[in-house]
Amino acid sequence: MSIQLAISGGSPVLQPGDVTPWPYITEEDKKAVLAVLEHGNMAEQRTEQAEKLKAEWAAYVGVKHCIPVCSGTAALHLCVAGLGLEPGDEVIVPAFTYWASAAAVLHHNCIPVFVDIDPVTYTIDPGLIEEAITPRTRAIMPVHIHGMSADMGPILEIAARHGLGVIEDGAQAQGATYKGQKVGSLGDCAGFSLQMSKNLTSGSEGGLFVCKDDTVQKRAALLEYLGEVVVPGRERQTQKYNAYGLGWAYRPDTLGEAMTRSRLRHLDQDNAGRIRNCEFLNDRFAEIKGVEPPATVEDRQPVYYCYVLGLKPSKLGLQIDATVFRDKFMEALQAEGVPCGMWQRLPVPAQEIFQTRVGYGKGCPWSCKYGREVDYRGQETPRTGEFIASHVYLTQVAPPNDTDVMAKYVDAVAKVLNHADELI
Ligand SMILES: Cc1ncc(COP(=O)(O)O)c(C=O)c1O
Repeated sequence: MSIQLAISGGSPVLQPGDVTPWPYITEEDKKAVLAVLEHGNMAEQRTEQAEKLKAEWAAYVGVKHCIPVCSGTAALHLCVAGLGLEPGDEVIVPAFTYWASAAAVLHHNCIPVFVDIDPVTYTIDPGLIEEAITPRTRAIMPVHIHGMSADMGPILEIAARHGLGVIEDGAQAQGATYKGQKVGSLGDCAGFSLQMSKNLTSGSEGGLFVCKDDTVQKRAALLEYLGEVVVPGRERQTQKYNAYGLGWAYRPDTLGEAMTRSRLRHLDQDNAGRIRNCEFLNDRFAEIKGVEPPATVEDRQPVYYCYVLGLKPSKLGLQIDATVFRDKFMEALQAEGVPCGMWQRLPVPAQEIFQTRVGYGKGCPWSCKYGREVDYRGQETPRTGEFIASHVYLTQVAPPNDTDVMAKYVDAVAKVLNHADELI
């Protein structure tokens, strides 16, 4: 290994081609998509792929109902609608998430109220939820971030005590478990994303809504199909072209569903590969001064959507601003050929839409007759801010990359840390 940093002209630890990008596509995945195209009747395939995916994903998660849709955000919007939420109702959301979690709330003219995260797991802190509950609160939306389940026990207990619904955002955690139970089966309903980077993906875009209750399913199904009631496969015979309520065109893509069904067959194997790789990283990084592996928690099996590496420059004797060190470290690590970067740059309530509350225009939904003008401007979510300042994301931790590739990630991190003083 070159002793000079690649950023200073040394040779990088990883060479082009060492890392395989996600998602890798199997021969079976290709055949599944091709079979739809070769079938000869796309209308029949639309029904077949959707119905089979519904049954297979519901069985995998352990719930009664599933509705495939066009995105994870749409699936979460179906959750909000499925629970019967109405304009002005409030939903508690973590400050650290992709803002789609909160957008799904706003899309239904409801109001997100943000709560800071637990500093160990980076999921919503149940201890902070009750002080955010108001007479308008109707639901809590825990987000299973980076493949780690939120602490569902106390969240469900608070929800039951206050008569609130629980919407699980499982976009980044297909297959993760809490006390042995799959995420998505713990709350009232859940939304999953099938976007390209996700553990279970259509290869492009898509989403999956799930729930246990028939009424929740019926309300969500109306929203998915522009407010109409349709019998899959019998649209022409039974569709009344009568909208029973406001709905969206959230219908899924047939080819994506075929791909998702094929990939669902190797989801557990893929997740096992991620876990093997990331546990290897956990062990190695625990021995390196200046970095901190993500926490593991008894009773929660994460599926490592990505790997978050904490940076501790003070342990190297460096007095430097966390953000400055993070950016310099990341730049040097990228030069070594490690796929790494940042995700969220700001806590969600600090983003422009919440600071200015423009919404749909004229300040809606906050200023609408039923809304509450929640002021996000003074809101402090210090743990979310600290997390963002002090972590980098190592990506491509999924198969077919194996522990040999992970060992090179470790070598590269060690090399950069050995030269940490050169970075500043
Ligand atoms: C935590 C979280 N929630 C929701 C979503 C939205 O999913 P989609 O992009 O499929 O709409 C994402 C997607 O990146 C996400 O990471």
